[in-house]
Amino acid sequence: MTAQILDGKKLAQTVKEELKTKIAALPSAPALAVIIVGTDPASEIYVRNKEKACQAVGIAPQTHKLPAETSKEELAALIKRLNNTPDINGILIQLPLPAHLNAAEILPLISPEKDVDGFHPVNVGKLLQKDTETFIPCTPKGIIKLIKSAKPDITGLNAVVIGRSQIVGLPVAHLLLNENCTVTVAHSKTKNLPELCRTADILVAAVGKPELVTKEYIKPDSLIIDVGINRTANGLKGDVNFADALETAAYVTPVPGGVGPMTIAMLLDNTVAAYLKQNRP
Ligand code: GUN
Repeated sequence: MTAQILDGKKLAQTVKEELKTKIAALPSAPALAVIIVGTDPASEIYVRNKEKACQAVGIAPQTHKLPAETSKEELAALIKRLNNTPDINGILIQLPLPAHLNAAEILPLISPEKDVDGFHPVNVGKLLQKDTETFIPCTPKGIIKLIKSAKPDITGLNAVVIGRSQIVGLPVAHLLLNENCTVTVAHSKTKNLPELCRTADILVAAVGKPELVTKEYIKPDSLIIDVGINRTANGLKGDVNFADALETAAYVTPVPGGVGPMTIAMLLDNTVAAYLKQNRP
């Protein structure tokens, strides 16, 4: 059998069209500040894509490009200024930061009310408490939306998440738990990974290892989410061998065109939510 491809680009387009209509009815444009420190080429592309996506739906992007040698104090001063600017609704710091800047020290400086990435400790805590008002990190939020577009009720399913990052693995595991899945988080020290993955009705691969997930990892008729964006000598590859997933699973996300576009759509969604929260009558 051939798996159905979960088209993230198309679903993201639908989300963006809904947001565009919603934004057109607002008294002013929501604004998103994006901070990039240094010149990492991949980060520069992500930031440019975020700017374009903002403009397409009517969000005003404000990009702050800082030199790689920016000090913690200088970055903190910019964040403080943006926190105190009422016209800025959301603040995002593109990761990774240069080595001398510690994300764990920097991210908590963003006001939780403007933390559209959902990385502030207060918002991470709210996610664990199933607070539906909090900002949910964009990639995990997009993954759940993609999964539910194929399977609206995932109660009781076995989910395996490969990878335990703060940005994807950990939050997506909690969101799957909140959807009543039985969740296992696998990582570099996990034993018998293929065998464990073969128990997964839903498999989320978020490790950054090109085509790690092959046929022996995939349960027949399962749903596979590929979060990997690996630039290899043979071009862009996900964490999943796409041909193997197509052959074995029931649903699979492509790379590119799967999770990536959903991440950006969820950033826009979080920015509109921030605007609405900050402008409550
Ligand atoms: N770098 C890779 N993914 C992300 C993300 O979701 N947010 C930010 N700010 N940086 C990233």
